[in-house]
Amino acid sequence: MEVVSTIEALRARLRSGSDVALVPTMGNLHAGHLALVENARKHAPSVVVSIFVNRLQFGPNDDFAKYPRTLEEDCAKLQSCDVNIVFAPDENVLYPVPQTVMVELPPLANELCGKFRPGHFRGVATVVLKLFNIVQPRIAIFGKKDYQQLFIIRQMVRELNLPIDIVAAEIMRAPDGLALSSRNSYLSSAERLEAARLYRTLVYIKEGIAGGERDFGSLQDIAEKKLDSHGWRVDYVAVRESSTLRPPQVIDKRLIVLAAAWLGKTRLIDNLEVFISD
Ligand code: PAJ
Repeated sequence: MEVVSTIEALRARLRSGSDVALVPTMGNLHAGHLALVENARKHAPSVVVSIFVNRLQFGPNDDFAKYPRTLEEDCAKLQSCDVNIVFAPDENVLYPVPQTVMVELPPLANELCGKFRPGHFRGVATVVLKLFNIVQPRIAIFGKKDYQQLFIIRQMVRELNLPIDIVAAEIMRAPDGLALSSRNSYLSSAERLEAARLYRTLVYIKEGIAGGERDFGSLQDIAEKKLDSHGWRVDYVAVRESSTLRPPQVIDKRLIVLAAAWLGKTRLIDNLEVFISD
């Protein structure tokens, strides 16, 4: 495995192995990221993992400064996953001049997480497009954990005719259901115990729908109140169509329940797919 930090060195190295699967990350890797890497291995002979904490997707009050940066440990993990190249550029490599050209996204980017993190998905789409242009992968792997991000990247790839297949990887969870996330390390031990309630709340809604409830608004309200009463500050709980991320029009058979909520100073997100069988 090689660790490369300049675009020139990366391109020289890539010319010798052109069938590449890319796994974009911000580092502080956990088992969820490593599952993406395993997935990438199955799809291409060469796997590139990028590690870059992208300032552009953080708002002024977000956790950019304190986001965990653990390159050495990350490389050790990737080494044992047979990764070919780790692309870990400095900020001045990816943004040598202030980034003024941005990917303009559809209104969906201002809903759900986008409503609470203005400009977030624009920053994500812009850095992902840059990484695609730099690495030129045939395939790229994204986790369903960030379902709205995955959805927006797919839309960008389709509408900008990028010759890249996007593969979606399932959410990796801790035994109590909490979705693995680099931000879980911010939680105190009491908060860590409480954190699994977010997943249990999604399961509650899923079971409600499976039991025939079609008043999604009332399920969302009950869920928000439940989280509220246990000390959470809820950004949103929403039932959407999984194929469009729009509020369900006619009763679609494939739904997704998405949520974002704060526990103390930590913002957690999660989602759960729901298939209606009748
Ligand atoms: P990051 O949060 O590091 O996540 C990198 C990738 O890992 C994303 O595709 C994310 O969905 C996936 N992932 C995270 N936790 C996961 C879990 N528990 N199970 C499965 N997959 C999981 O997402 C980003 O970085 C950035 O926005 C990025 C796309 C790299 C652009 O900066």
